[in-house]
Amino acid sequence: MRISVIGCGYLGAVHAACMAELGHDVVGLDVDETKVALLAQGRPSFHEPGFPELLARHVGTRRLRFTTDPTEIRDAEIHFIGVGTPQLQGRLGADMTYVRQAVATIVEHAAPPAEGRPVLVAGKSTVPVGTAEEIAEALASSGKNLMLAWNPEFLREGYAVADTLHPDRLVYGLPEDLERGAVAKEILDECYARPLATGTPLVVANYPTAELVKVAANSFLATKISFINAMAELCDATGGDVTRLAEAIGYDDRIGSKFLQAGIGFGGGCLPKDIRAFMARAGELGVDEALTFLREVDAINLRRRDHAVTLAEEAVGGRLAGRKVAVLGITFKPDTDDLRDSPALDIAGRLWSRGAELAVVDPAAGDLLRRRQPELNVHDSIEDAIRDAHVVMVLTQWKEFVELDPAALVALPATPNVVDGRNVLDPRRWSNAGWRYFGMGRGVSV
Ligand code: UGA
Repeated sequence: MRISVIGCGYLGAVHAACMAELGHDVVGLDVDETKVALLAQGRPSFHEPGFPELLARHVGTRRLRFTTDPTEIRDAEIHFIGVGTPQLQGRLGADMTYVRQAVATIVEHAAPPAEGRPVLVAGKSTVPVGTAEEIAEALASSGKNLMLAWNPEFLREGYAVADTLHPDRLVYGLPEDLERGAVAKEILDECYARPLATGTPLVVANYPTAELVKVAANSFLATKISFINAMAELCDATGGDVTRLAEAIGYDDRIGSKFLQAGIGFGGGCLPKDIRAFMARAGELGVDEALTFLREVDAINLRRRDHAVTLAEEAVGGRLAGRKVAVLGITFKPDTDDLRDSPALDIAGRLWSRGAELAVVDPAAGDLLRRRQPELNVHDSIEDAIRDAHVVMVLTQWKEFVELDPAALVALPATPNVVDGRNVLDPRRWSNAGWRYFGMGRGVSV
């Protein structure tokens, strides 16, 4: 099929490359010339495992092109909308500017065949419920034969390629009209023929359900993380160990063991802003009480950052001013260079504003951070960062930090204190090697 993807950020660029991998002819459109120039040369504009290989395989063939020229989307049979919906400045709601611009671009440039089946517009961006209905109306009044489906995306950064090629489910939000719904489904089925053939579950629903599925899923994940972080607070107050607690409750299939890792909390471009936008939308709809619990989820999450700073203070015996803190990991999670709403970056900023001297190491975002916040003092080597530090903080669980040998490092810092912000180090091993270990909800420090 001929496909266009509007928006070549994280979601759009990976989606475009994966659609080429599924055998389609794809054009990715973005207004950002720098980003498009990189992608058009087959160079990734962000760190994502497996993505460079897809670009290398398909850019340069007819399969995958990236452009800033909207006329190039003309012949597509499906236009995917994959633009960002960031949090509004100073408010909880989502900024829909880019979605509106994408719809306007499609309406202006799409050229449906004079006769024959309609051209499908498939929304992938995370939007406030009710947006699809508005877009469907705009498409209907365009006078062009354009039809909308809502097809939310569930990919995780770090696994984006695998999640797109082998999704754990597909969701189609279709027009209520049965005949039109069947046509939209037929077009999407053709697009996703390969994952569907390998048994990917498909859920067909109306527009609001499909929009809600996405925010409901992210809200549930955020709630699960904040639940275990609330248990971490209880563990710290009682001498319990939240990692054992999570293991034990996770054996119950109804609870499940995933997303029960307590620590400095969730961040990134999705979970935090999605729960806030969801609360804002519920308020507009007059059902804000239904989501009051998400306020608590957000508050518990932000408290984790305060707690990490408190642990650092405790480790250095009070004031952080003039003390050296080695920060291992600055991205919001491993296997990405994404710094959006990163708890690690926020904590580092707070330590710095309290007068601490920082030494940050990150396997993917070091250069980016050096350009953006040189005051945080980025190092290339873990040893250099740790040397003479008063406390070492593991804030992102990159493999290279999880696998550190505490005995080999213990002579480097001024005082061997380690704050395990992700509960990924073995407390006994670190304390036996001579470190004072501080966990997040693992009872008293060892
Ligand atoms: C999230 C969802 O997991 C995806 O399904 C969704 O498609 C995506 O948002 C989106 O809306 O686009 P992502 O933002 O890549 O994906 O990150 P997650 O893997 O969900 O992690 C989010 C945050 O939670 C990270 O900061 C991570 O460190 C933290 N986390 C995760 C925990 O603190 N504990 C856990 O047990 C799991």
